Amino acid sequence: MGILKQGSHKAPSPLLLLHIIIFIQVAPLIVKAQSLIPPKYDGFVYKNRAATTDSIIIEAFFDPVCPDSRDAWPPLKQAIHHYPSGSISLIVHTFPLPYHDNAFVTSRALHIVNSINSSATYNLLEIFFNDQERFYNPQTLNNSRASVVNQVTQVATKAVGKSNLSAIRSGFLDSKTDHATRSSFKYGCSRGVYGTPFFFVNGFALADGGSPITYKKWRSIIDPLVGKGKA
Ligand SMILES: *[C@@H]1O[C@H](CO)[C@@H](O)[C@H](O)[C@H]1NC(C)=O
Ligand SMILES: *[C@@H]1O[C@H](CO)[C@@H](O)[C@H](O)[C@H]1NC(C)=O
Ligand SMILES: *[C@@H]1O[C@H](CO)[C@@H](O)[C@H](O)[C@H]1NC(C)=O
Repeated sequence: MGILKQGSHKAPSPLLLLHIIIFIQVAPLIVKAQSLIPPKYDGFVYKNRAATTDSIIIEAFFDPVCPDSRDAWPPLKQAIHHYPSGSISLIVHTFPLPYHDNAFVTSRALHIVNSINSSATYNLLEIFFNDQERFYNPQTLNNSRASVVNQVTQVATKAVGKSNLSAIRSGFLDSKTDHATRSSFKYGCSRGVYGTPFFFVNGFALADGGSPITYKKWRSIIDPLVGKGKA
């Protein structure tokens, strides 16, 4: 029986009112949750080796100013290069840790550079790793945020060339790059990432999240999987 039957003079029940109030409050959240979904899969694909379900997919969550992420990169890169390109693919996601003051701005620079020239994204990641200390907390304690953004812009220019300086500058003013960086972070949270580096192989989290993995260890993880996926 309809509570608001035509011609009925009964007042709406308190329960219905409560439902309406809850719906009005929750509806914007539902819309927000849907808009979290990015138009394409998150992350930067290494050397355009597109991930397919026939390849082993490694995913790494890195913070550009995290020393353990820096130390994790060379052995992972070496391991990726050991295998033929069709058999393995790598996707790096940015995951700025809240206790690293410049993690978000350096992560955002990666998203900006990726939108200008996606082939240069990993160059910038390596540039950050190689000269990471300058963006640590104590080293930038007295710097304004504007000054840090300016320094990061200069560093990012090294990856894409001076002709793209203004494109990087405007990238930092573009809310799209802010959202892309937030989206990566939220994606990491949704997968249970709580530190960096954090790795997934074919979607499964590796134990010891938050610590680097040696080349030997990578080989021992990947070797048993190679060639078995197609069977
Ligand atoms: C994009 O970056 C790659 C790698 O650094 C470089 O070889 C290429 O020339 C760049 N493309 C453009 C349009 O600048
Ligand atoms: C920051 O400023 C304080 C006070 O002026 C100074 O003692 C300190 O050495 C500065 N730190 C850096 C990293 O420049
Ligand atoms: C970046 O620079 C290259 C030339 O080096 C140019 O072709 C390209 O249009 C620039 N991209 C943007 C977004 O300014």
